[in-house]
Amino acid sequence: MTTRDNENANHYDDEAKSTGWYGPAVVFGLAFSYTKPGQQILDIGIGTGLGSAFFNKAGLSVTGMDISDEMLDACRKKGWADRLVKHDLTVAPYPFDDGSFDHAVSTGVFQFFPDLDRVFREIGRVVKEGGIFVFVTGDRTEEEDAEVVVGPEHTGTGTSVTMYRHSTRQITGWLEHNGFHPIDSLEFSVWMDRKRKARFPARAYLAQKQSLQ
Ligand SMILES: C[S@@+](CC[C@H](N)C(=O)[O-])C[C@H]1O[C@@H](n2cnc3c(N)ncnc32)[C@H](O)[C@@H]1O
Repeated sequence: MTTRDNENANHYDDEAKSTGWYGPAVVFGLAFSYTKPGQQILDIGIGTGLGSAFFNKAGLSVTGMDISDEMLDACRKKGWADRLVKHDLTVAPYPFDDGSFDHAVSTGVFQFFPDLDRVFREIGRVVKEGGIFVFVTGDRTEEEDAEVVVGPEHTGTGTSVTMYRHSTRQITGWLEHNGFHPIDSLEFSVWMDRKRKARFPARAYLAQKQSLQ
């Protein structure tokens, strides 16, 4: 994942395919029965669009948010995203009205951030009541360390990157604090190399926006 984040956006999809990046398929599998054609979905950290491509194929309209011009350009070239917006997900408010999306998705992004409470607050603000928030993050047990330093052999940049794993208790706390009811989760592996030997444990979560009253 780290490798892909730092690579040239034009090579991102090839690398994702070679290493076996199942996050987009896992989140779509968890969430698609809660979606309908014509609905609006926000993809946070859309990158080249892999995390929302299945939703687009299922007839949803996709808005993407990302901090990288290069990744947004690569996504724009594919031609199917409804709207692409440059914005840092750690900065509130996001440039969207309250309740302006039916659903939200994020894949391959949250493992870069130690604390997701404020991110989930903004997502809770822009998603309608009853909408779905489906995402992937790094996974750990309560006893395991949150920080994982990924070495240069897997980042592809010549430098190490610190990534974060979140326990189910942490994620559930942040979801409930921000108006989401956790529905389901599924553990899977993210491979850091083409030989699929170096494993980063990941988990996909499905949650539903509740009324705060
Ligand atoms: C590993 S890629 C995942 C892309 C895509 N969601 C996927 O599943 O293939 C991580 C993406 O998060 C974006 N990103 C990283 N930090 C961000 C931030 N602070 N705000 C918005 N996007 C960010 C990167 O630019 C990159 O496009």
